Amino acid sequence: MTTITLNNGVEMPQIGFGVFQVPDAQTTAAVATALEAGYRSVDTAAIYGNEVGTGRALAESGIAREDLFVTSKLWTADLGHDAALAGFDASLDKLGLDYLDLYLIHWPAPATDKYVDSWRALEKLYADSRVRAIGVSNFLPEHLQRLLDVGSVVPAVNQVELHPALQQRGLAEFNQRHGVATEAWSPLAQGTVLDDPAIAAIAAAHGRTPAQVILRWHLQQGRIIIPKSVTLARIRENLDLLGFELAGAELGAIDALERDGRMGPHPAEFNG
Ligand SMILES: NC(=O)c1ccc[n+]([C@@H]2O[C@H](COP(=O)([O-])OP(=O)(O)OC[C@H]3O[C@@H](n4cnc5c(N)ncnc54)[C@H](OP(=O)(O)O)[C@@H]3O)[C@@H](O)[C@H]2O)c1
Repeated sequence: MTTITLNNGVEMPQIGFGVFQVPDAQTTAAVATALEAGYRSVDTAAIYGNEVGTGRALAESGIAREDLFVTSKLWTADLGHDAALAGFDASLDKLGLDYLDLYLIHWPAPATDKYVDSWRALEKLYADSRVRAIGVSNFLPEHLQRLLDVGSVVPAVNQVELHPALQQRGLAEFNQRHGVATEAWSPLAQGTVLDDPAIAAIAAAHGRTPAQVILRWHLQQGRIIIPKSVTLARIRENLDLLGFELAGAELGAIDALERDGRMGPHPAEFNG
């Protein structure tokens, strides 16, 4: 499994398993299938309501804790210094873990103006060794800049919507300039770009699926990805990304699919 070295030296698997929109009752089976397929990194969040199901699969897997990489996220309702500390405790409790590998502020919710105070809480959790790395999600450069200006820890990761239809080039460059790893959520655009003819042609040329071509496009640009599937064959194929390489012209053909095709809320406007 390829890893990305975060800005504090922690190694994060480049491919993880996302569980957004998986009901808690189905999450244990989905995560168990992913772990059997070889995933070691799981991305959940308090708001997904499936930390209990995720934790059960981790515990039942028998895989050593240090071989797993577990991410969860602080929901907007829990922004604020003390609320963030309590939100972290609640997530850890539901997951049945005694530390997290990565904890993210889920959205900046700028109108509430609480993400800086929340960041100070994450810095405390990090200083207390309760989490191996701290980061953010859905942060625009202006939000990240505030943390860089007043914080003592540079976020390790910024997890943002990123796929062929919304490539976030300026944001990814900002992240890179400041040592923040870019992690792509909805890396497959929730399946909406899979039947694009340009991607189909590249897939046919390599004898791979469209999903594998898109995920490979992400990997070759150094991004962390967390594709979600509850389907065994897809769970496996989304991890089977070695053994082929996209040529420069193929990467360029996917780059040309940018169309400002945002599917989720805009971070400047979403306040929870
Ligand atoms: N930080 C945030 O605000 C945020 C927001 C959204 C998502 N996320 C994270 O990012 C993860 C991934 O994003 P996502 O779940 O929105 O979307 P995604 O991974 O881009 O796409 C998932 C969809 O694609 C289908 N799919 C998966 N692999 C496929 C394949 N090989 N071939 C064909 N179809 C395939 C899945 O279907 P089946 O499941 O039916 O197989 C599902 O409908 C989430 O689970 C979550 O962990 C974070």
